[in-house]
Amino acid sequence: MSQQPVSPVQPSSLNRRRFLQATAAQATAAAASYTLAQAVHAGGDGVLRVGLIGCGGRGTGAATQALRADREVRLVAMADAFEDKVTGSLNQLSSDAAIRAKIDVPPERRFHGFDAYQRVIDSVDVVLLCTPPGFRPLHLEAAVRANKHIFCEKPMAVDGPGVRRVLAAAEDARRRRLALVAGFCWRYHSGMRATFERIHDGAVGDIVALQCTYNTGPIWVRARQAGWTDMEYQMRNWYYYTWLSGDYNVEQHCHSIDKMGWAMRNTYPVRCVGTGGRQTRTGPEHGHIFDHMSVVYEFENGVKCFSNSRQFPRGCANDVTDHVLGTRGKVDVMRHRITGANPWTYPAAQAARDVDMYQQEHNELFASIRRGQPINDGDWMAKSTLMAIMGRMACYTGQVITWDQAMNSRQDLTPPSYRWDQPMPEPEVARPGSTRFS
Ligand SMILES: NC(=O)c1ccc[n+]([C@@H]2O[C@H](COP(=O)([O-])OP(=O)(O)OC[C@H]3O[C@@H](n4cnc5c(N)ncnc54)[C@H](O)[C@@H]3O)[C@@H](O)[C@H]2O)c1
Repeated sequence: MSQQPVSPVQPSSLNRRRFLQATAAQATAAAASYTLAQAVHAGGDGVLRVGLIGCGGRGTGAATQALRADREVRLVAMADAFEDKVTGSLNQLSSDAAIRAKIDVPPERRFHGFDAYQRVIDSVDVVLLCTPPGFRPLHLEAAVRANKHIFCEKPMAVDGPGVRRVLAAAEDARRRRLALVAGFCWRYHSGMRATFERIHDGAVGDIVALQCTYNTGPIWVRARQAGWTDMEYQMRNWYYYTWLSGDYNVEQHCHSIDKMGWAMRNTYPVRCVGTGGRQTRTGPEHGHIFDHMSVVYEFENGVKCFSNSRQFPRGCANDVTDHVLGTRGKVDVMRHRITGANPWTYPAAQAARDVDMYQQEHNELFASIRRGQPINDGDWMAKSTLMAIMGRMACYTGQVITWDQAMNSRQDLTPPSYRWDQPMPEPEVARPGSTRFS
């Protein structure tokens, strides 16, 4: 497919001057906490070069939002496991004239393959990490190591070792004064923020219970095509493989779980028990993930969170709601409504004026880079991910799983190698009672 013409973008002279200053400083003081990213952008202007890693639906959306978030921002490099995804995303982005004017991704900065992420990281100031979450720890570590600011889609990992790597990388980002914004977009939603502010201010008294429900229909399936290796098939049909998606509760229900952690002021449960299985996802195209899970989490102070999720085909009642129950009232989180001693509803007129949450997270990311006061969402974004992972562990094994067990788990889902000819046998479906925790 032919590309829309794009105008080359040169770094501004100010940008280049700062870049050279920073490079010199880095060469002479490599061990110092002073970093390239700080020097180039702390409170600064000049063009911010953005790179997209993972050119699917969300990545294309995130690139659009990044380009709208700041006047002096350009998309200059793109990477995907598959070449067709880079081309498709670039074509889609270029179909909007205002966005096209901010794109400069010539063929030599379009990368594909498993190593493509590093080529993008090497070409930019800000990276958008939008692949399936199985790659997030690897890509996040590489971006931090290279002193890049980061937008990082949820969830952050698929296993305990991955969460530990994300926590360490996030801490490193903090030391290097790099911005790290999480794609847990409800945290950037104005109505949601107002709701949680009231919860934390005591509008419903002490929290006694939490409930989150994520009952939806199924999502896409990518059927195997002739000529695909096992690896290509699993990568294309990634949702159905836990090493890539974490299972559906980690990949999708994590938004609701994150809100539960947010309600508890970013503290997380000490244990959980769950039940789950696959009733309708039974075909070979469904890999080995579950389609229903029900988990009861318990926090240190005894508060319980009742988490229910499933993805069944048409004909079932759907429900995506979260509730916080307190000693003095109740919160319908998704409706931003409090009933009880301090009734309140987020004003509809205000909601109509609010910036879309997906745009807001990029607005705040770029503003924080410009101000030299980088946002770092690292700690809670990793722990909300672990809360979802421990729920999956409880459902897969049928055991009570503690937070410490999940955090220290040795179960590393990474495949032996990232090669297209890597043999990738179909994983067994977990069987509670037989599947072991590790
Ligand atoms: N915040 C939200 O509301 C929201 C909404 C949708 C998706 N997401 C998240 O965004 C991520 C991507 O989801 P999506 O819907 O865009 O999926 P998608 O399948 O449309 O896109 C993912 C892309 O990543 C590519 N990819 C896979 N492995 C790669 C690798 N190692 N290097 C480079 N590219 C690689 C795939 O080929 C694909 O093009 C997921 O983590 C998902 O949870 C978040």
